[in-house]
Amino acid sequence: MDMQVVPARKGNYNLQDYEKLRESFSWEDVKKNFTWNTTGKVNMAYEAVDRHATDPAKKDKVALLYSSPEREESMTFEQLSQESNKFANVLKKYEISKGDRVFLFMPRSPEFYAAFFGILKVGAIAGPLFEAFMEQAVRDRLQDSEAKLLITTPDLLYRVPLNELPKLEKIVLVGGNKEDTNKFIDYNKEMKEASINFSIEWVDLEDGMLLHYTSGSTGKPKGILHVHNAMIQHYATAEWVLDLKEEDVYWCTADPGWVTGTSYGIFAPWLHGVTNVIRGGRFTPDDWYTTLEKNNVSVWYTAPTALRMLVSYGEEAVKKYDLDTLRHILSVGEPLNPEVITWGLKAFDLRVHDTWWMTETGAQLIVNLPSLEIRPGSMGKPIPGVEASIVDNEGNEIPPNQMGNLAIKEGWPSMMRQVWNNPGKFESYFINGWYVSGDSAYQDEDGYFWFQGRLDDVINTSGERVGPFEVESKLIEHPAVAEAGVIGKPDPERGEIIKAFITLNDGYDDTKELLEDIRQFVKTGLSAHAAPREIEVKDSIPKTRSGKIMRRLLKSWELGLPTGDTSTLED
Ligand code: WT7
Repeated sequence: MDMQVVPARKGNYNLQDYEKLRESFSWEDVKKNFTWNTTGKVNMAYEAVDRHATDPAKKDKVALLYSSPEREESMTFEQLSQESNKFANVLKKYEISKGDRVFLFMPRSPEFYAAFFGILKVGAIAGPLFEAFMEQAVRDRLQDSEAKLLITTPDLLYRVPLNELPKLEKIVLVGGNKEDTNKFIDYNKEMKEASINFSIEWVDLEDGMLLHYTSGSTGKPKGILHVHNAMIQHYATAEWVLDLKEEDVYWCTADPGWVTGTSYGIFAPWLHGVTNVIRGGRFTPDDWYTTLEKNNVSVWYTAPTALRMLVSYGEEAVKKYDLDTLRHILSVGEPLNPEVITWGLKAFDLRVHDTWWMTETGAQLIVNLPSLEIRPGSMGKPIPGVEASIVDNEGNEIPPNQMGNLAIKEGWPSMMRQVWNNPGKFESYFINGWYVSGDSAYQDEDGYFWFQGRLDDVINTSGERVGPFEVESKLIEHPAVAEAGVIGKPDPERGEIIKAFITLNDGYDDTKELLEDIRQFVKTGLSAHAAPREIEVKDSIPKTRSGKIMRRLLKSWELGLPTGDTSTLED
């Protein structure tokens, strides 16, 4: 294959010799970096925060460099430790204890991070929700997890259907309170009264820590449970892949409502005591360049969709900013277009390093390391300690250059431990000792992995994972909609956009106003990113005889492709 490669990064970086480390590698060696390896006392919050806060050389170092259009604030490791201790005391006062689910539904803010670690410090399980979620998305997650306490803001409260959440005992409101003090807790008031001392709840490495909901092709979003043990892989990949060093200023652009925003927006940098930039507010190219410049960011982890927008904004814009400190760029969430890599080399004189992983995998698995050449369009190679392969549907490995299921040998440290309330779903990921990802890919002769697409109907729009079933279910709640089938349609900037095919109930006409009303209905009921950008009215929606929507057929129609096997199509 004719292809241009980008040579390995020059200079000094972590993990210089990939092949050697892979050979001699053992996760046991990574464990030596943790306090619990000698004390036996485990808690992610200790390793990521308190450990630095009790180190005289580190305690006054800036942990959090927060800014939003409205506010600017920083916190040292000692302050983050004390604020999270205070919140842990608040949680304890309201009888939150080990294993309880505590959800956060609020924008990124210093309070968010204090509360997040407060939750871990009492041994509870944190469930961060993306702030753009609307009522149904919030309800589904709080119901399924049987969350006991929610931390939110007065502005977002209208999206929390309290009367449908009998298990939700208390709501902590950040920035205001309600009269009903049996239900509502005033964050500011409680934090003022809380002690800065807290004795952390020591847990087991296999105890639950974090619950992230993600979409599949069928059913409601599923709760992916991660445990404290994941820190082993967060720590190692921060070093090898993010190439983090003590003096770095790091910025991960992802919201903590998504796994990238926790694994790499919280744990990876803080396990290494690195200064972490958090930027609130909306994306604009100039805002992002300003954030890089003002904070002297040196390592930047972002997503293809954002990079593509920066590419279309133009190379000239980059020159207006002084980005001299920037030395390492990474990307995750969708295929990284070769054009973006070419552009990165021109605009920043830096390589953009693709990383592949999933909510379920908890941390990076297949990556472009600084020490490896980049083959644009390839996700790179598996990290040391991880075995990846391409398997057939029975879980047998298949030879190079043939497409199949991208699979990972079971048992890496950050692997999900449960699908909440759904052991069957959990089991269904594993075949013959392999975790089967749902992505199709192939491996070349040199062991580079090349992403080809999803094998299921999951949609990836601007790096956000959307389940078609969820959108279809919402669509048919609209009085005008009889049936709905939802697909991802390729889009140059967003990767895919959501397209819905619907049939209308009697008495409704296919007008622009109606379609816009339906779109808004999904947007305000579910979330903005799940709202179809295109809606097309049909006379019928193709279904199998057993009543399953044939999304594949809809997609073939949309793309003008051959329709393949339609033998199961209903008459
Ligand atoms: C799906 C997982 C945890 C990362 C954020 C997304 C797609 C992820 C890449 C990549 C091509 C990618 C896959 C995967 N994906 N990274 N580097 N190249 N596709 O996590 O929401 O759980 O989505 O995102 O299809 O299965 P997620």
